[in-house]
Amino acid sequence: MSKLITVFGATGNQGGSVIAAILADSELSKEFRIRGITRDTTKKSAQDLVKKGVEVVTADLGSVDSLTDALKGSHTVFLVTNYWETMNAEVEYSQGKNVADVSKAVGVSHLIFSSLHNVTEETNGRLTKVPHFDSKANVEKYIRASGIECSFVLPGYYMSNFTQMLNRSDDGSYQLFYPVGNEAKFPLFDAAQDTGLFVKVALKHAHQLKNKQVLAAAKYYTPQEIVDTFSKVSGKKAVFISVSSEQYKASLPSAIAVEYLENQLFVEDPGYYLGESLEPTLELVDSKPTSWEEFVKKNLSAWK
Ligand SMILES: NC(=O)c1ccc[n+]([C@@H]2O[C@H](COP(=O)([O-])OP(=O)(O)OC[C@H]3O[C@@H](n4cnc5c(N)ncnc54)[C@H](OP(=O)(O)O)[C@@H]3O)[C@@H](O)[C@H]2O)c1
Repeated sequence: MSKLITVFGATGNQGGSVIAAILADSELSKEFRIRGITRDTTKKSAQDLVKKGVEVVTADLGSVDSLTDALKGSHTVFLVTNYWETMNAEVEYSQGKNVADVSKAVGVSHLIFSSLHNVTEETNGRLTKVPHFDSKANVEKYIRASGIECSFVLPGYYMSNFTQMLNRSDDGSYQLFYPVGNEAKFPLFDAAQDTGLFVKVALKHAHQLKNKQVLAAAKYYTPQEIVDTFSKVSGKKAVFISVSSEQYKASLPSAIAVEYLENQLFVEDPGYYLGESLEPTLELVDSKPTSWEEFVKKNLSAWK
């Protein structure tokens, strides 16, 4: 009989991509049957999954009881938490902890968590205000300490971020403002398309990647490469403008200004993945991830 994989965030970018990738994979679609988690099974994105043969189940990451029902019988769990819904690191941490605890209690064999690095620790306290990274790293730490079989997929910098960050100016050209120099390297990836490609690595090489991190990015790109490729594909002028920290913060809503600033400073130094090569993961993927050029071609209407 096939094993059950339970996928959180089934109606979102990452979980939705994981489900699509398993359904499209001749090997994994036989090995696993899929349970997708949402808080609202009536929404269209949930019903679309039902039409594809996915079992869609209600649970809330904040409710241990609902998680206990939802995780029963699961062999593997893919967990993504959404910091931005509450913008509260303690909530994100407790959601991750809940899933780790319940997974252990119901006998899950493999927990795959969508993690990120701890900015405060990796910068020795130079940057302390990127809670959406730190809380995920703290969940990773908790999962490791729990003794459950686990692996971690660290999503790269979403390509879709640039549909907001590449700003159109009055003359029709585009500007990318960053508080970093051109030596900063952004590990880009198409989250909605390619999360599943990288999670498949954790599924197909589970033994080899036990307790390990999979770096989910297509390639490192400098800000100049990002605007040059955008310009080449769109035919629009696009420039990268390196701004001061103060200018950068002033350009953003105050609720996110410091967090975004420190996030970009972390990308510059020590690096989003601390300077680690993407090659070990890229050697294991089944197909090439979406390049920035392909993403721009596919999503040009997002910048209209
Ligand atoms: N933007 C980037 O560059 C970047 C890079 C790396 C990591 N990330 C991280 O990616 C995460 C977001 O992932 P995404 O893009 O896949 O999110 P998304 O598309 O916004 O979807 C969020 C998903 O989480 C589910 N969810 C939220 N709260 C829940 C709860 N309390 N109980 C159960 N399910 C819940 C939602 O399900 P329902 O609403 O259907 O219940 C939905 O499926 C964030 O934590 C962010 O920090 C972002």
